[in-house]
Amino acid sequence: MENLSMIAAIGINYELGYQNQLLCHLPIDLKHFKEITSGHAVIMGDRTWESLPKRPLPNRRNIVVTLDDVEFPDCETVHSIEDAMDLVKDEDEAFVMGGATMYRLFMPFARKLYITRIMSDFTADVFFPTIKDDEWSLVDDVYVRKDEKNMYNLFFQILIRK
Ligand SMILES: NC(=O)c1ccc[n+]([C@@H]2O[C@H](COP(=O)([O-])OP(=O)(O)OC[C@H]3O[C@@H](n4cnc5c(N)ncnc54)[C@H](OP(=O)(O)O)[C@@H]3O)[C@@H](O)[C@H]2O)c1
Repeated sequence: MENLSMIAAIGINYELGYQNQLLCHLPIDLKHFKEITSGHAVIMGDRTWESLPKRPLPNRRNIVVTLDDVEFPDCETVHSIEDAMDLVKDEDEAFVMGGATMYRLFMPFARKLYITRIMSDFTADVFFPTIKDDEWSLVDDVYVRKDEKNMYNLFFQILIRK
């Protein structure tokens, strides 16, 4: 799908999270996420919604995917990834923002990946799908050195489907 992107922060072994939490607190990555997704639609799984502070992300169209017969407050709730893609078909760009289940299900449909590659390994129970070199071209790769607020070196990468 031309306008479908995914955005994630991952460790060197594709780690995504542990016990329904992010790997670490990186203010610079939260700022990067906000800059890239603001003004756009974001699509997330039920568990990622649960990991947020129980309200939609501001200045974004929040779409939550669940198999349960529930509606999420102040969000658009859908029950399949096809329905999510249908909702965003007229957006200029829409972002799958996790978690692991959503990245796996949407991976075949994504055209662009915004990956924060954190230069460390982590204890994790969920992982991002493998990014295969023969399927993706790295088009942007910006190195950011750790500092007093961000305790890991990282790369902000953009990959486009070949
Ligand atoms: N590093 C990052 O950038 C990043 C970003 C986001 C999240 N995360 C991490 O990822 C982890 C959460 O990932 P997760 O895989 O457990 O949860 P998730 O992808 O956020 O949500 C999974 C939920 O999606 C629903 N679902 C599953 N299959 C479906 C299908 N075929 N169609 C429609 N809905 C379906 C189910 O909800 P129901 O049970 O309600 O049916 C399921 O519980 C956490 O550790 C979080 O911190 C990391």
